[in-house]
Amino acid sequence: MRLFEPLQLGPLTLPNRVLMAPLTRCRAKQPGNIPWELNAQYYAQRSSAGLIFSEATQICPEGQGYLWTPGMYGAEQVDGWRLVTDAVHAAGGRIHAQLWHVGRISHRSLQPGNIEPVSCCDIASKSKCFAYDAHGNPNHVDCDTPRALTSAEIPEVIAQYASAARIAKEAGFDGVQVHGANGYLPDQFLSSVINTRTDDWGGSVVKRAKFLLDATRACISVWGAQRVGVRLSPTSDSSGMQGNTQWREQHLEVARQLQHEGVSYVDLLSHSQAAGKSGFEEEFLREFRSIFHGVLMLSGGMTRDMSESHIRNGLCDAAVFGRAFISNPDLPMRLLHNVPLTDADPTTFYGGFERGYTDYARAT
Ligand SMILES: Cc1cc2nc3c(=O)[nH]c(=O)nc-3n(C[C@H](O)[C@H](O)[C@H](O)COP(=O)(O)O)c2cc1C
Repeated sequence: MRLFEPLQLGPLTLPNRVLMAPLTRCRAKQPGNIPWELNAQYYAQRSSAGLIFSEATQICPEGQGYLWTPGMYGAEQVDGWRLVTDAVHAAGGRIHAQLWHVGRISHRSLQPGNIEPVSCCDIASKSKCFAYDAHGNPNHVDCDTPRALTSAEIPEVIAQYASAARIAKEAGFDGVQVHGANGYLPDQFLSSVINTRTDDWGGSVVKRAKFLLDATRACISVWGAQRVGVRLSPTSDSSGMQGNTQWREQHLEVARQLQHEGVSYVDLLSHSQAAGKSGFEEEFLREFRSIFHGVLMLSGGMTRDMSESHIRNGLCDAAVFGRAFISNPDLPMRLLHNVPLTDADPTTFYGGFERGYTDYARAT
């Protein structure tokens, strides 16, 4: 099967094309949002993936939108991530860090000084984030109205991507992925619906792409383009950004610019396919590929047969699996031998300890 042929990803040779999606699990050590032994064990269990993408990891305290997610900005986090990368490498795996800034998908209780979160605009998301409620209990709460970053502040946020990329290098990752999907800060800038800016960072497809591109360039300055990739969710209506009629031209412009920068890969996530509906149109994927010549990964409801057929038909080079990797630590072997998959328990997705995290069994 093509799914089990090696794939060259920059300097990395991936032994298969079954990749583990970034999965927020809200299990970093507290206080401090520090990765620890439990996280190392979880990732090591999944090291037969062609490549692991770490859970989304905030580049700075302001970039956090959910409780107990790990950070990539402090010395203790370097040591914590080192436990993870060492465990994955010792088990024969490879791991990229997903770098995250949530922008407006946050709440004052998570922000330094309890001030409002930042975004490209001052329009509140109608979605929820996972933070402390008015009684101080962990809960799904309405996101707070953000403050629009000034033009002068944006380069400071971009610099935080560079600094997180440096920390990821120090911590032993094999590369980094810029989280440009799912309605978080770079995706907020990409949105014609909420990016109402009239400065260099909004107003046209090129200007709306500038934040994501500058964040990506910041990572390239640390890692080189061959160890940097980007995740996008072009058709998603994440977090109250419904109605972006320009999604297609916007993301093809991003493809052009990422090709120009020579980034190693793009992962395109389809939320509708993850929800059991149809995924990207073939025509869009072919157009994207005709512009972007790096490795193309597809995410969202991928199955063994769909992945194999998409790779065979040239629609992608690798498939990214999310929920299946939560409950099947040995997913590549199971797909190869058609072993039935264990279903994931959504009630243990976010927060907690071993249960629903490191206690899913391998197939015998
Ligand atoms: C529990 C959970 C946590 C997730 N966390 C992240 C994340 O940190 N970063 C990200 O880009 N996507 C995240 N996603 C989306 C997944 O990476 C994946 O794209 C999605 O689950 C669809 O793929 P699937 O159908 O194979 O599960 C998350 C999804 C789930 C279910």
